Amino acid sequence: MQRTYIGELNKKVGEEVKICGWVDVRRDHGKLIFIDLRDMSGKVQMVALPNHKEAHTLANTVRSEWVLEVSGKVNARPEKMVNKDELNGGVEIEVLSINVLNEAITPAIDVRSDGIEIGEDARLKYRYLDLRRPRMQKNIRNRSKVMTLTRILLEKEGFCEIETPNLTKATAEGSRDFIIPSRLEQGKFYVLPQSPQQYKQLLMASGFEKYFQFARCFRDEDSRGDRQPEFTQMDLEMSFATEEDVMNVNEKIIIEIINKLYPHKKIQEIPFPKISYKEAMEKYGTDKPDIRKDKNDKDLLAFAWIVDFPMFEKADNGKWTFTHNPFSATKTESFDDLMAKKNIEKIMAAQYDLALNGNEMGGGSIRNHRPEALRKVLEIMDFDDVKIEREYGHMLKAFETGTPPHGGIAWGLDRMIMILENEPNIREVIAFAKTGEGRDLMMDAPTEVSTEQLRELGIEIKKKK
Ligand code: AMO
Repeated sequence: MQRTYIGELNKKVGEEVKICGWVDVRRDHGKLIFIDLRDMSGKVQMVALPNHKEAHTLANTVRSEWVLEVSGKVNARPEKMVNKDELNGGVEIEVLSINVLNEAITPAIDVRSDGIEIGEDARLKYRYLDLRRPRMQKNIRNRSKVMTLTRILLEKEGFCEIETPNLTKATAEGSRDFIIPSRLEQGKFYVLPQSPQQYKQLLMASGFEKYFQFARCFRDEDSRGDRQPEFTQMDLEMSFATEEDVMNVNEKIIIEIINKLYPHKKIQEIPFPKISYKEAMEKYGTDKPDIRKDKNDKDLLAFAWIVDFPMFEKADNGKWTFTHNPFSATKTESFDDLMAKKNIEKIMAAQYDLALNGNEMGGGSIRNHRPEALRKVLEIMDFDDVKIEREYGHMLKAFETGTPPHGGIAWGLDRMIMILENEPNIREVIAFAKTGEGRDLMMDAPTEVSTEQLRELGIEIKKKK
């Protein structure tokens, strides 16, 4: 017999079915044994009656989280037992036979609660169990829905999804890099990308015009509620686009995602308001202001574009550095100052961040597509010719080959889902998240590697901290 998903049972009253899933809970009521069985589509109450003797005896032995295949009859519940709020509140499975597919030891953590009361280390260590809880199932499944719909909408807008390498060279995104030693070229290292920034710009040089990717990004920074060392961006880039073009297409897609997948949410203001960086800092003291009119309304989404960022700021060493990334173009009115390398503190970048309920959900800019303009940015930051050639030579060369004007953005996907799911931190929407110290407690990573592996890489560990 074909398996029926539990979510379909309410359409099968009177039929005999085979269902599979996990024992959510078992309750003995004298001779009647009730078992709630759970699969990816929902839960159902089953009852084992003494007249099906073998099934009844077996039902007595099953425990929470055992995996069962059950044949049974879908019975309508008597009127006064109907629970209208539940998916299968109108039916009950009369158990005819049970096949135990796997037993389970007592779970290390409770998987039926929302998990908030459980220490996070235990949840991360037993993440495969933690993910069974309905809240985590919902978060991860809704994340998948957002990704799928984003893909469909971007495809409709003419975007092409292109994967870019993870073994690469530093991408100058302003954080510390994770480095990977090369075996074939001992003493040399790949760098994991902090974002696909350079590749996506090079794809504009390649003529793709509209690129996007759900990109894994790696930044060796201290984790916080809204930060992980490894996270996902919805990254896009467009050729021949203005700031307005990039903001408009993103706004359209985000509104559609919310309307389709989170219809109970209200967007405070459409089109999303634009606030200058200066105004945001003066009025709210932050460049990611929470402009919600009612901060207690958990279904209110207040987006705002933060625009008109300064291009440069002074670094700790007193030199100029970029505020977003070195590839941003200036606003048209600042272009002459850039080329003349004057009034540096007044140069404005063609940059936009997307703030959502007090979080930075995304950020992007129009880029310098002319090699001489990018070179000026690097010179203002006091990079010498050797450094410019070594780190940016490939970009400068590409820009000499007929690269169109272009710009883009990246959303922090984890942050977006965190807010949409009303979760307090991004670990709640990442299947296998790391701790604040960057550890994967389940896999026990990072960990030491064998001396043999180190020898192959030409690496010697001098001293351990
Ligand atoms: P940026 O560095 O602003 O821009 O990153 C874009 C968005 O990514 C999210 N984000 C993070 N999410 C989780 N953990 C982290 N450690 C983390 N760091 C960043 C944020 C942020 O807004 N290449 C540019 C984009 C562009 O210019 O097109 C970039 O990476 O939500």
